[in-house]
Amino acid sequence: MSERKKMSLPGLFKKVASNEPITMLTCYDYPTAHFQEQAGIDMILVGDSLGMTMLGFESTLPVTMEDMIRHAQAVRRGSPNAWLIGDMPYMSYQPSVESAIRNAGRFMAEAGCDAIKLEGGTEMADRLAGIVRAGIPAMGHLGLTPQSVSALGGFRVQGKGAQQAKKIVDDARILEEAGAYAILLEMVPDRLCQLITERAKNCFIISLGSGPHAHGQLLIYHDAFGLYPRFKPRMAKVFANAGQLIQDGLKEYAKEVTERSFPQPENWFGMPDEEYDELIQLLEK
Ligand code: KIV
Repeated sequence: MSERKKMSLPGLFKKVASNEPITMLTCYDYPTAHFQEQAGIDMILVGDSLGMTMLGFESTLPVTMEDMIRHAQAVRRGSPNAWLIGDMPYMSYQPSVESAIRNAGRFMAEAGCDAIKLEGGTEMADRLAGIVRAGIPAMGHLGLTPQSVSALGGFRVQGKGAQQAKKIVDDARILEEAGAYAILLEMVPDRLCQLITERAKNCFIISLGSGPHAHGQLLIYHDAFGLYPRFKPRMAKVFANAGQLIQDGLKEYAKEVTERSFPQPENWFGMPDEEYDELIQLLEK
């Protein structure tokens, strides 16, 4: 079993200070969390992307707090030591500061998370500040924010134009002032990510498809391991094609069962002859 030390906020900021990139992946279930724990992944995000990757929805919008808590609990059981972040699902924080604090608290109390993440800039800064005031570390999320995909006009790069880029820079500063310990930049140009990273003083920046200059990198686990059948985003690299491996294994299973070459004696359990004979006698009575 793992002999890792529990990752903490000081531990994460220590990595930033020593210019060591932070590793981060999404995760939604116990066995994957176990593997990520063994691999020493620093930060795990139980993303509401589970609506797409695990539940097969077309977007993240149908995901509920109940879905998130159930999956976050499973991930915590598999990874006791990574810095675990619960992703606030759609409408769990947008309605009010109070709803934001209550639902953030559920991630901490019911799932053993270390922090939460929410999407949005200036307009969500009061929610983030309220959560931080309640003693819960909060991560911001700017650029492509999937819960606003309709308003953003689809899953596309954000901040390519100077005006939109300026808004993202301003939003990052406001989230930092609101108390965010980290900000995720999803699908913004690399130079914009670099600029925001260089300006960050009391928080660190994580990149998802936003280039190499951030303090750390995040990928969606299913994209990085060939497990999402609908598409592979350009920004993702497939580090191992587990999806293909599983598909091949499934075909082999179906073939062996059909051919009756599975199961073999090592795959079943026998019974002593005398017990079997007695059973037959009992049945004949
Ligand atoms: O839900 C999620 O996994 C996310 C990522 C897209 C960053 O928020």
